[in-house]
Amino acid sequence: MTERSSFVVVANRLPVDEEETPTGREWRRSPGGLVSALHPVLASHRGTWVGWSGGASEPTALPEVPAVVDGIRLHPVPLSAVDIEEFYEGHCNSTIWPLYHDAVEQPRFRRRWRDAYRRVNARFAAAADAAAAPGATVWVQDYQLQLVPGMLRAARPDLRIGFFLHVPFPPMELFMQIPMRAEILRGLLGADLVGFQQPLAVQNFMRIARHLLGLRTRGDLLETDGRRVRAGSFPISIDVRAMEMMCADPSTLERAKQIRADLGDPKIVMLGVDRLDYTKGIGQRLQAFRELLDEGKLSVPDTVMVQVATPSRERVEHYQSLRVKVEREVGRINGDFSQVGLPAVHYLHQSYSPNELAALYRAADVMLVTPLRDGMNLVAKEYVAARADNGGAVVLSEFAGAAYELRQAFLCNPHDVDALKDAMVRASSVDFADGSRRMAAMRRYLRSHDVNRWADSFLRALEDPPPVGVATVSGVSLAPVADARR
Ligand code: G6P
Repeated sequence: MTERSSFVVVANRLPVDEEETPTGREWRRSPGGLVSALHPVLASHRGTWVGWSGGASEPTALPEVPAVVDGIRLHPVPLSAVDIEEFYEGHCNSTIWPLYHDAVEQPRFRRRWRDAYRRVNARFAAAADAAAAPGATVWVQDYQLQLVPGMLRAARPDLRIGFFLHVPFPPMELFMQIPMRAEILRGLLGADLVGFQQPLAVQNFMRIARHLLGLRTRGDLLETDGRRVRAGSFPISIDVRAMEMMCADPSTLERAKQIRADLGDPKIVMLGVDRLDYTKGIGQRLQAFRELLDEGKLSVPDTVMVQVATPSRERVEHYQSLRVKVEREVGRINGDFSQVGLPAVHYLHQSYSPNELAALYRAADVMLVTPLRDGMNLVAKEYVAARADNGGAVVLSEFAGAAYELRQAFLCNPHDVDALKDAMVRASSVDFADGSRRMAAMRRYLRSHDVNRWADSFLRALEDPPPVGVATVSGVSLAPVADARR
């Protein structure tokens, strides 16, 4: 690469998808809030995005992606078949992912996975080094790349480095299990600003830094190697306007009507939209629905459930066993409660386009967002933004980051099936005045807290180091919890 950028994003995945078009296969910008929020900054700075294209390629052979897509310069990082197995499926998604999500599945520890994590993080750091101009700003994303800020700092002390963790940051009692714990922490501390979804994660981080590395902290600042690192809470959001525009399109509303008709025009459509992941609480949700049908509190065909379960990480064992469990439960419910042509649960193990999802949101009366643990959960925010009609209701897990902001949802503890059932019944029977008041309040909130505000507030905090000796609270900390302050 000859020309270097003053703004570089480093993420496990590149922000592009290869799609079939009438003229052949083409690379397009991926849908999604993160990419759309960073696009203007990247386009105006001739910025570069460093990431993996998603396929296996030998370390010396760069994957076939175009140099620029939609004004974003792409710098691909190759992963070999062994890297995919040991880094992506292994350390990222069989060790860190379960451990950072309250160990709802048992994390697995393997020494060769840790070596792969170091090796691949070093490759990403080298790519970021090559892409960044002197004094550039580099923003590293998520749990796959926690060593990158430290590696990059060592090679390039001239850079301003930010890190944002999209997933939860676990309490000390869990974090202490990771064999690489001090190394991961030092990796994160290579950044000038470390951002989390929630104040509770900031607290966990500070506490672990004090305990594990003996660092001094003051407010949101940590001192390490004579440098100051700031930690803050920056709850991510969605492109609210894009969702509103999609839902204002008559074709979306027409499609929503069609979906309801295809479902047999039920009184209540309950909807779940998740990656097929064990953190999402799909099993508990299905159990709650089955018990409600069994007790006659809900009945088919008046009520139907649609569960979109997007295929994800399909070679990882935890995900394979989850699929078996979910599909067994769907089969059991349908066997017991469906009628000919009228299934109780419509289970869709498929990926959907943003347009089709918007139509599903408009077709659904009750959105079920019941993860056992989730950094944020943008589906809840998408559903609220989609409902400019103020219709619908959201059942939301207290263990999703979104619950700190969407206070008018029907909040519940998804580990407690009775509480979940109660929230599902209350949401499906809410009267229009109460329901629309709740939806309007959440939509007002989201309009002023969209993904552009998230990116702006993070980048402003990153460019604006706190004055010496002054403790600051950075970001848009919104949690009502008292323990947000120490
Ligand atoms: C979560 C993670 C992302 C990840 C996404 C999809 O949202 O926070 O970093 O990209 O899941 O998972 P995948 O393994 O397909 O990248």
